[in-house]
Amino acid sequence: MTTYVMAIDQGTTSSRTILFDADLRIVASAQQEFPQHFPASGWVEHDPEDLYRTVVETATAAMDKAGATAADIAAIGITNQRETTLVWDRDTGKPLHNAIVWQDRRTADYCARLKADGHEETITAKTGLIADPYFSSTKAKWILDQVEDARDRARIGRLMFGTVDSWLIWRLTEGRSHVTDATNAARTMLYDIHKGDWSSTICELLDVPREMLPEVRDCADDFGTTTVFGGDIPILGVAGDQQAATVGQACFSPGMMKSTYGTGCFALLNTGDAPVRSTNRLLTTIAYQLDGKPTYALEGSIFIAGAVVQWLRDGLGLIEAAKETQAMAEGADASQSLILVPAFTGLGAPYWDPDCRGAVFGLTRNSGRKELARAALESVGFQTRDLLEAMRGDMGHDSEGVLRVDGGMTASDWTMQFLADIIGAPVDRPQVLETTALGAAWLAGMRAGVYPDAEGFSKGWALERRFEPTMPKDERDTKYARWKKAVAATMSV
Ligand code: G3P
Repeated sequence: MTTYVMAIDQGTTSSRTILFDADLRIVASAQQEFPQHFPASGWVEHDPEDLYRTVVETATAAMDKAGATAADIAAIGITNQRETTLVWDRDTGKPLHNAIVWQDRRTADYCARLKADGHEETITAKTGLIADPYFSSTKAKWILDQVEDARDRARIGRLMFGTVDSWLIWRLTEGRSHVTDATNAARTMLYDIHKGDWSSTICELLDVPREMLPEVRDCADDFGTTTVFGGDIPILGVAGDQQAATVGQACFSPGMMKSTYGTGCFALLNTGDAPVRSTNRLLTTIAYQLDGKPTYALEGSIFIAGAVVQWLRDGLGLIEAAKETQAMAEGADASQSLILVPAFTGLGAPYWDPDCRGAVFGLTRNSGRKELARAALESVGFQTRDLLEAMRGDMGHDSEGVLRVDGGMTASDWTMQFLADIIGAPVDRPQVLETTALGAAWLAGMRAGVYPDAEGFSKGWALERRFEPTMPKDERDTKYARWKKAVAATMSV
């Protein structure tokens, strides 16, 4: 018998399963995309059945590739797109509505009302978040408002709320476990991150009955046992995808920081066992929780990173594949300096403007594909600098730490060099770029006794390449000042 740990990564556009061996090496993986639904402008939904089906199919495919049976799998770790919201019936198992995805803006007006009525301070003080449609609670409220009797059914425990992890576990355990972990709970805007419990005050404020909420556990804990893969396999690890990447990057000490470049970009700075209240519009969140002890983080969330390259490909038809952008940026006219503000779905941290839309500045008759591609890649660096500036502001010092990076866009050396140049700090790209799945696998495998503790795991983190900043400081500052002006102009239109 071989020992594997299965990491399930249920993301925004696809589900993936990776099998790791006892030395944390990747043995097999499978991935499947699923349809996105856009029923109205600014609305984004997923079919809950697609989420579950693609998880089961990719898990089965990965097991087949490795020739593994359930008996070979010591544990399952689950990581997931965060904030995405589901409500389902306890008895029938049927969701009341499609999953409302984190990107969905349908509750923007309600959030504006919460702010206008002066509730944001209470929300931030308890949950560490800001009153933005990004988070789960207003989405759950929206579902309860739509369906007749839903709130009454929720009050008597007939309806269940869950983020994607809860939904998957409930399905995988055939209704035996209604649970989540502290990192996913921290993204609902219902969880008191200081007390480590659901907040009755916020539940009442939003009229989301507490009775429908899952039980909250550590990230390495017992989440139930699945028999769906032909034998008993315990689910022993759960973390939201950005938190799993923080773990996978071994950011276990205060001051360590990672940034993941997927559809969006999410930077997390470990602040240790004390939550830091941001004065620069970052989020306070839980990085991970082990042995009942939360470790906190400051988070900057950017909605468009890799998605800007997708837009060059699918929206403008300028490229056929993302990797072409690197050569285009290298060959772009150095005398032009286009700035692209990719506010396609508004701006996230630190601006939090749900209504503003994107813009390009500095166009000339000579501006072409290459210059636009360079501006797209540079926008990712500029946005990261926005987050790091906010983090430096919150931490009260401007020590320029190292940034550990992962995600699809980090494959581009040009983009990583520009990132180091514009933030003025080293950028470290690890050998294993599958940090999200790695984090989930480690949490589950550590709990199962297959993998070492955090210290041992950290020793296995290996650098592939460090990008040192080489751009002169005045050039960096001038470029960044132009970006700030471009953002201000975009927000004012
Ligand atoms: O907060 C949203 C984030 O968790 C989504 O991540 O990688 O699925 O786009 P991803």
